[in-house]
Amino acid sequence: MAFGTVKSTNQQEATVRTAVCPGSFDPVTNGHLDVFARASKMADHVTIAVMVNQTKQSLFTLDERLDFIRSCTTHLPNVTVDTFSGLLVDWCRGHEVRHVIKGLRAMSDFDYELQMAQLNYDLAGVETAFVSTNPQYSYLSSSMVKEVAQYGGDVSALVPDVVRLALQARYSASKEA
Ligand code: PNS
Repeated sequence: MAFGTVKSTNQQEATVRTAVCPGSFDPVTNGHLDVFARASKMADHVTIAVMVNQTKQSLFTLDERLDFIRSCTTHLPNVTVDTFSGLLVDWCRGHEVRHVIKGLRAMSDFDYELQMAQLNYDLAGVETAFVSTNPQYSYLSSSMVKEVAQYGGDVSALVPDVVRLALQARYSASKEA
């Protein structure tokens, strides 16, 4: 199954088969997992591309972030996980992927997401499709999850168990230090 069909000038149809869901995923949340599951139904193959960010301090290492996502997407056979650094469009070029799928939580996301989508299209003809986030997760972000967990709040409805346990371990270790 494919999520789109592109008609070239001679009207031949080219089926869109691969897509990428990019992000920092520090850590992955139930909102992200909902987007991955929906993206997996829209394209034949989806890569979750975790950004390696040299400037932004992340709570979890790249390997931890990858492991969380891998362990929570085993039920999605057409989804794989990769990393990228630098421009997303360069990763897309290198992997011949021309479609990005992202979740849109609220209008407050829209301006920035639209700018990125327009830029990525201008830079490399990479198209972006948005899925409307499940309203249950419309307020959910990795930063909020970290803040709640840091102060001992219950994040069990917000993140998968593997992440909840890792957050608990990380913040209890930092209290002891
Ligand atoms: O989970 P995030 O931090 O909201 O994800 C943002 C991300 C990684 C998708 C975005 O910052 C990105 O694509 N960064 C890579 C650098 C890039 O391509 N910049 C040009 C578009 S802004």
